[in-house]
Order: sequence, then C-alpha cells, then structure tokens
Amino acid sequence: MKSKENEAEKKKRVIVTDNLSEVGIKKLREFAEVDVELDLSREDLKERIADYDAIVIRSGTKVTKEIIEAGSAGRLKVIGRAGVGVDNIAVETATEKGILVVNSPEANTISAAEHTIAMLLSLSRKIPAANVSLKSGKWDRKKHMGVEVNGKVLGIIGLGRVGSEVAKRVKGFGMKVVAYDPFISSEKAKELGITLASLNEAFQVADFITIHTPLTKDTRHLIGANEFALMKEGVRVINCARGGIIDEHALKEAIESGKVAGAALDVFEQEPPEERDLLELEEVVVTPHLGASTTEAQKAAALGIADEVIDALQNKPVRNTVNMIYVEEEIMDTINPYLGLGEKLGLLAAQLIPKTGRIEQFNVSYEGELGFADSGIGKNTRIITRAILKSALSLFTDGVNYVNAEAMAKKFGIKITESKTEEIEDFSSLISITTTTRIEGEEKKKTVAGTLFGKDDPRIVKINGYRVDASPSGYMLICSFLDKPRVIGPVCTILGDRGINIAGMQVGREKVGGDAVMVINVDGMVSEGSIEEIKHVENIFDAMLVKL
Ligand code: NAD
Ligand code: MLT
Repeated sequence: MKSKENEAEKKKRVIVTDNLSEVGIKKLREFAEVDVELDLSREDLKERIADYDAIVIRSGTKVTKEIIEAGSAGRLKVIGRAGVGVDNIAVETATEKGILVVNSPEANTISAAEHTIAMLLSLSRKIPAANVSLKSGKWDRKKHMGVEVNGKVLGIIGLGRVGSEVAKRVKGFGMKVVAYDPFISSEKAKELGITLASLNEAFQVADFITIHTPLTKDTRHLIGANEFALMKEGVRVINCARGGIIDEHALKEAIESGKVAGAALDVFEQEPPEERDLLELEEVVVTPHLGASTTEAQKAAALGIADEVIDALQNKPVRNTVNMIYVEEEIMDTINPYLGLGEKLGLLAAQLIPKTGRIEQFNVSYEGELGFADSGIGKNTRIITRAILKSALSLFTDGVNYVNAEAMAKKFGIKITESKTEEIEDFSSLISITTTTRIEGEEKKKTVAGTLFGKDDPRIVKINGYRVDASPSGYMLICSFLDKPRVIGPVCTILGDRGINIAGMQVGREKVGGDAVMVINVDGMVSEGSIEEIKHVENIFDAMLVKL
C-alpha cells in the first residue's frame, strides 16, 4: 500500500525554469519528476506548462496571465518562487484559477541587506570606479574622493525584512535612520531605534535613500522627477529592491543636473537592461541583480521552495503562501474539524438558497471560542469562511478551492462579511451562516448554524432559527410545517412506502402549535415525486432534499 502511495506521489511533475541551487532540485526529485529547462521561450513555456503540477522559478521567468491560464487548463496547481518578489507572477490570475503561489521570502533577506550595505559603501567611496581605474594602469586618488556615511541620514523606504536588517547594520556606521513605511507601527520603529517619517519628510532630510518596498502598482515610479526635486542637493540613491520603483529616466536627468550625486542599482526596469545610458554614467554603480546571489541565500531559497512545493502538492499546510491563508501547524489540529463543519454548513446554506433569486451576501458569524479574537483559533476564522465558500460555490461552479473561494465569490458579486462575538448560549462555539438573496426586489434571508460536540463531532443545530440537532451527512429531508398532529406520521409513511430508511429525525418548533421544521436523515435519495407528495401533506409548507 505504502509503495503504491509513493508511486502516485512520484508521478507529480515539476518544471524548474530559472537557475535553482542543486540542493533544491535534489530535494524536489526525491518527490517528483523534475525537468530543468532554463532556456524556454514564453511561447514554449505556455505550450508545456499544462503538463506540470508545479513550476519553480526565480526572478527570470515571467509567469504571465496567459501562461497561468494555459497551466490551469491542465494540471498546474502550484507556482513556487525561490526568493521573495512575486512581481514576475500574475498572482491575481493564479488566485482566480485556484493556483497556489508560494515563495521563500526569508531566505535571502540577509544577503539582500548585506548587498545594500555593499552598494552604500561602494557609492560613498566610489570603489567600483577606483577599482577599474587602478586596474587599467592609473593611479588617480583625486578623482575618487568619497564621503563618509558616519553622521549622515539614511532614508529607508520600506521597513520590512530587508529594510529592517539594513537599519540595524547602518547604525553601526553611525548613520541616523529615518524610515517611511505606511504599514509599520511606531513600536517596531522604536524597537529598531529609528524615526518614522512621511515619504516627503524622508526625501527632504536624507543624505542617502535606499528603497526596500515590493514593486506594486502603488510603488511603480514611487520616485520620479517630483520626488527628486524634494530631495537634498547631492543626495545618493540605492535600489536593491525592484527596478521600476525609481523612474530611470528621471534618475538619469537628476544625476545629469547634479541634484543626485550618485546612484547604486542592483535592479532595473528591464532586466537585462537594454537602455544603457543610465548605467554608463560615472556616478552610477551597478550590479546585475545580485542581492540574493550568495551561496547561503541560494541554498536556503532552493531548499525552502522545494519544501513548500512538496507540501503544497501533498495538500499539507504551507508556510509561505502568497495567495492563501496561512494557519500555524499547532492551530491546524484544532481548526481542522471546524473546516469540516464549515464545508458541511456551506453546502447546506447553498442548498437552502431560493433558486429563483440572486445571491447577494454570505454573512458568517462566529460565536464563543471562535469569536474570541485573541485566541489562536479566533484569529484564524478566515480559513473557515473559505471552507464555507468553497463548498457553497462548488454547487454553482467548477474549480473552486481554498485559494480562489473568496475571489470567486467577489467575481459573482457576492458580499462576504464576518462577525464575531465571544458571547454564546448553549454551546462552546457556533458558526452561523446567513445568506441574503434578492427575489424580485425583495430580500430573503436563510440561516443555518452548526457546532462541534466534543472536539470533532459536527452538528447542525439551527435551520432558519429553529433549534435542531442533526448530523451533517448524506441525504437530509428538510420540511417546514405547522406543529399539528398527523404531519410527521404521514411524511414517515410516504418515505417508508418508498423503501427509504430513516436514519434520524429532529423536530424544532417556535412554540406548541406554531411554525416548525423537521430534519430527517435518510439513507437514500428521495425522488422528486415523493417530495411533491410530502409537500401535499396537510400543514406541510415546504419540503426539500439536501445532500451533505
Ligand atoms: P517585505 O515585504 O518584508 O518588506 C516590504 C516593506 O515595504 C513592507 O514593510 C511594506 O509595508 C513596505 N511597503 C509596501 N508598500 C510601500 C510603500 N508604498 N511605501 C513604503 N513602504 C511600502 O519585503 P522584503 O523581503 O524586505 O523585500 C523588499 C524588496 O526587496 C522587495 O521588492 C524584494 O523583491 C526585494 N528583494 C530584492 C533582492 C535582490 O536580489 N535585489 C533580494 C531580496 C529582496
Ligand atoms: C528576490 O525577490 O528574492 C530577489 O530578487 C532574488 C532573486 O530573484 O533571486
């Protein structure tokens, strides 16, 4: 049995299209068939991608919308990025198509920070130019006069992993650090002993500016002509993050005008750069995207991404997901039964939705231990919401999974809301789903709620406000009726006459003689004809069969 399972795993196919350290390839090969193809054109990749379960890349391969669409028509499930930047991947398309994007973001942080420091000192002391000059037989000391960094202000734009490591290191050089990062708290800045500033303030006070943001639509050309105009005369600029964050054309002009005394660039708008005017300026120090090019970083990135891809292909929790919610392994054990419950509730909620309307909203409410925002499990309810959406939407469309469930719901124009409260009656936790459907201008709401008995025994405990206690499995016949004698008996007779065995039955009612609901777990399918017959039993309002 075991060797059969291994055989099935071996059949997974992975394509590696950028230079990946051999240790990573070796690791992937222990699990899958691996093809290393370093010279594929975009067209060739598009043609072949559907044959692979995963693609592993660095920054060289552009995994475009078209490539992802071609892959998703076949077996592609995972895109692994050895490194941090995912600007070369059409992540939105991957999410829509339910393809997981994983990376290894911490593997090269130190190398990138060290490279930034190397660039800072190369720039301030003109080391690359002096090196070339001396090697060409000159002894020119005057031309290569530098500046100290001690006592100068370094403006860090983006205080994430790399930015923070740069901040720590330059303090040893006696630099003052001013940072701009809209997503960083003042506590973190305090911890690092640096001052937070607005973007413009950072531009105005810095002697050196270093960029450490991702390249996004918001950071593209974050630094252009207007920003250079705000900077100090003789400022020096470093970019070891991503080409395109600085407008290269504006940088060239700022250097030529003398506003910027120099720039150190590891990354370019186009790589390799075709436009060479900027690179060839004497004031510019360049390296060919070497920030992560150390033996240590490459090994760590390759091993890290191999682990992530292997886990992802085995449907195990993955740590560094770009488009999936990460749940810590310790919490996973507790949350797993809730994912199962969520899937059942989602299926039930979707089947109760009136067929003639337009679904507008799914509200998921978490109560009790799930509603306690500070608890491990309470912090992770979003993945339960995805479980609910995944199973609910699977009744209306194909290919929905944990990655794309939210994106698909949005695409259908369904609003997803979550609410939480620690307060709860009767149970230790409760998940309630309220769906809102619009039928000819009128809102119709349906609710279902479920809980776990013990640690992992899922139960449906409410349907449209009525208290029930039903096991969410197999076929369930749900009938709304008026609580009067001679209703339950005839329904059971109809089922019995059709040879349908009743596995369990629950009745919930508002008050004696009021509106009520009965949930009957049946061992087999109930035909449309039988359901119609049940609907004709006196005092039955409605009847429907759901499958969980
Ligand atoms: P990170 O996600 O840890 O940090 C990025 C930081 O930028 C975050 O704190 C974020 O809040 C901040 N940010 C986002 N938008 C911003 C904006 N508009 N203004 C200011 N700050 C903003 O990423 P990281 O691991 O530190 O990597 C930083 C950059 O370096 C990325 O672009 C990455 O691709 C690049 N990188 C390059 C190399 C290389 O070889 N040259 C190596 C590693 C990382
Ligand atoms: C990264 O984003 O990890 C770096 O740019 C390094 C790389 O692409 O290898």
